[in-house]
Amino acid sequence: MGYLLGIDIGTSGTKTLLVDPAGRIAAAVTVEYPAYAPRPAWSEQDPEDWWQATVTSIRQVLKKARAKAADVTGLGLSGQMHGSVFLDKSGKVLRRAILWNDQRTGAECDAITQAAGGRRALIRMVSNPALTGFTAPKILWVRKHEPRLYDRTTKILLPKDYVRYRLTGEFATEVSDASGTLLLDVKRRRWSTKLLGLLQIDRALLPEVYESQEVSGRLTAAAARATGLAVGTPVVGGGGDQAAGAVGNGIVRRGVISATLGTSGVVFAHADHVETDPEGRVHTFCHAVEGKWHVMGVVLAAGGSLQWFRNTLCQDLVRKAKREKVDPYELITAEAAAVPPGSDGLYFLPYLTGERTPHADPNARAAWIGLSNMHTRAHMARAVLEGATYAMRDCLEIIQGMGVPVKEIRVAGGGARSRFWRALQADIYKQPVWTVSSEEGPAYGVALLAGVGTGVWSSVPEACDATIQTRQATRPTRARVRRYDVLYPEYGQLYRSLKDDFARIAALA
Ligand code: XUL
Repeated sequence: MGYLLGIDIGTSGTKTLLVDPAGRIAAAVTVEYPAYAPRPAWSEQDPEDWWQATVTSIRQVLKKARAKAADVTGLGLSGQMHGSVFLDKSGKVLRRAILWNDQRTGAECDAITQAAGGRRALIRMVSNPALTGFTAPKILWVRKHEPRLYDRTTKILLPKDYVRYRLTGEFATEVSDASGTLLLDVKRRRWSTKLLGLLQIDRALLPEVYESQEVSGRLTAAAARATGLAVGTPVVGGGGDQAAGAVGNGIVRRGVISATLGTSGVVFAHADHVETDPEGRVHTFCHAVEGKWHVMGVVLAAGGSLQWFRNTLCQDLVRKAKREKVDPYELITAEAAAVPPGSDGLYFLPYLTGERTPHADPNARAAWIGLSNMHTRAHMARAVLEGATYAMRDCLEIIQGMGVPVKEIRVAGGGARSRFWRALQADIYKQPVWTVSSEEGPAYGVALLAGVGTGVWSSVPEACDATIQTRQATRPTRARVRRYDVLYPEYGQLYRSLKDDFARIAALA
């Protein structure tokens, strides 16, 4: 049996899937690990934890499926994007990795923008503006604040590519994840020697860049002993978690886009050509489909806002859900459903951890606006759900405004599992939303890429057509579409009114 392995090095844990040649999941295991916040708004992880979680989860899926080493014919890697792992000349990790959600690099983003000759010039060079989460500003931060450590650095890798190094001994990455470093010439799909020169970053510090389905290396004897896999098992490029998740949802053709509501909210569209927003409000990255690109808007706290609401204001519902053995989010959305669209004049801005799309503003903060004495927790819940979904519509409208067609919207993540949130999305996006057969996200996407790289399918779209189907459509309701069309512009106006206040409050803090 030719199994494919898909491994996703996520922020809360590593998820490993064993997939059979028909695309069915034979076994799935997730191993969790901690994240560290040594200072407010910093976020770090220990790369050794990723490696140990990879080894444990591979061993466990093999055991669960009673698969033998020789049964696994290919392996694909996915992972949280933008993180930076600093290695010395013996391949030893020099410090904890700085993650995608770390906000320490505001000054370095300004320095990069200036070195490139301004924001628009930078976007022309690497298709994206400098954002605090990206890798390049982290490299500059370490060079400035930890110069002795930087002098000992001989390679800088993304999270999944560190695991690749432990599996294969190769220093390699692939185009989709490399796009999120800010150092890739996204149009030409290779490192930007121009920006590297301007920032004085040595090209030799970076790994080789592959296409996502290409074989980037093979398992070493030491990795085979550690994982229980066979020496020489091919490891394909894989993808950053968003591009890999898109493959797992079948977002591999123009017109098909996904709206994923997890902690973050991501609107992801396939693009046949490089499409950039001159204002840089959405990311333009290489897709995990050879020779293709994608644009995506990232809402930092979409499901994360609801999670925060549950944890801080709904402990009674959490206890009730435990007693009744149901999901607490079901009880929260049931309360929200009893309130009319628009939450009787209450709005919620979901900027709990700043925002990327459309505002790229680390100082933005969340707020309920319009609270009155008639409002209840149910109104607050509905406003949170509406605010997060308006933020997704912001992303969608920018993408449509760039001329990218939106013919079919596929929903994924926790927001796709809730019937209420699916209906709210259809009403606010003004289009039907579809669920898909595969719910496994990035790990599934890279298992498919491993299949393409080892000859199971001839292309990524062919792999998706063979394994992924749309399931259920939720259609918008005309009256609610009209109502939300009136309410949504006011949501955008609230941020514009508060922008300067957010900056002043941040300066006071
Ligand atoms: C994408 C992004 C997140 C991380 C963590 O730009 O920042 O999706 O990859 O999941």
